[in-house]
Amino acid sequence: MRVLGIESSCDETGVALYDTERGLLGQALFSQIDMHAAYGGVVPELASRDHVRRVLPLIRQVLSEAGCGPEQVDGVAFTAGPGLAGALLVGAGVGRSLAYGWGVPAVPVHHMEGHLLAPLLEEAPRPGEERPDFPFVALLVSGGHSLLLEARALGDYRPLGESVDDAAGEAFDKVAKMMGLGYPGGPRIAALAEKGEAGRFRFPRPMTDRPGLDMSFSGLKTFTLNTINDLGGADALSDQDRADIALAFQDAAVDTLVIKCRRAMEQTGGERLVVAGGVSANRSLREKLDAAMAKRGVRVFYPGLAYCTDNGAMIAYAGALRLAAGEHSGLPIAVRPRWPLAELAPLSA
Ligand code: KG4
Ligand code: ZN
Repeated sequence: MRVLGIESSCDETGVALYDTERGLLGQALFSQIDMHAAYGGVVPELASRDHVRRVLPLIRQVLSEAGCGPEQVDGVAFTAGPGLAGALLVGAGVGRSLAYGWGVPAVPVHHMEGHLLAPLLEEAPRPGEERPDFPFVALLVSGGHSLLLEARALGDYRPLGESVDDAAGEAFDKVAKMMGLGYPGGPRIAALAEKGEAGRFRFPRPMTDRPGLDMSFSGLKTFTLNTINDLGGADALSDQDRADIALAFQDAAVDTLVIKCRRAMEQTGGERLVVAGGVSANRSLREKLDAAMAKRGVRVFYPGLAYCTDNGAMIAYAGALRLAAGEHSGLPIAVRPRWPLAELAPLSA
């Protein structure tokens, strides 16, 4: 079965073609980062309009590069939520309409399920690595979510904990903005932290001094702001100050995530941990998690770097699994800007 996947929940238009026999046949991505950078963050209306401009040319490109005509597409998957309403409606409208025109089923995909399944997408991820089997614990850390959950089977996700305020990626973005580093902040903070001097600052590890798997990143963000202000404000910072603050912030955010993962593995007795979403690209997070989990005999699985941040491949893949299990949507074009992952139902197949 060949499935066209469309991702348009935020600031990336992603399109991919996934074949359940042959794997990923093609993909294309257009990032709106340059357009939003001038505003320091995503402007929803601009995002929707740009998805409108990009989505059909990207679909044409992916189909033509894969040498696949519309008559060879067996289904269309689109991100139906969570995300920006207008942006989601573009992918959903185009995806649903193409499926109708081509006489094939369409399937709405939960964006976070896409992230969650991304490490399963690649046939042979990296030498010596395998794909994770269910059940596994998942840490999903993106610009919009920080979630810990137990994935028991496809569509069967039991929440373990989540951020009570900012998402992990959002905290990286906001701290970067405070220091005038631009958007998106995660990769910039990570690069700057490489030049930081360890030990100059010590930031708090929020909500790690009490039991539970919920997380909080807003206090850490405020602590960072206070540190910047103590040094005379963003304009007074030297390059070394910026690097030291980036490192202290990243260490605190990463340690918090590692502590929560360790607890989640203890609590569930699980042997596999999947880490996905934009922040899973962070090298320090990967190194510290690998070390902490190796001690416990837990195997950690990450998506390839290209599949950590938003992309069409994860949506095509999740949609293909759902279509193969007989799921598809009705004719109405519906999106869910807010959509708890735990509301998904386990797939029967
Ligand atoms: O999954 P994603 O592309 O979009 C959402 O679903 O939100 O994640 C984007 C988030 C942004 O907040 C970005 O700053 C963060 O992922 N991010 C990173 C890194 N790369 C992207 N955060 C920390 N370190 C990175 N290397
Ligand atoms: Zn995402």
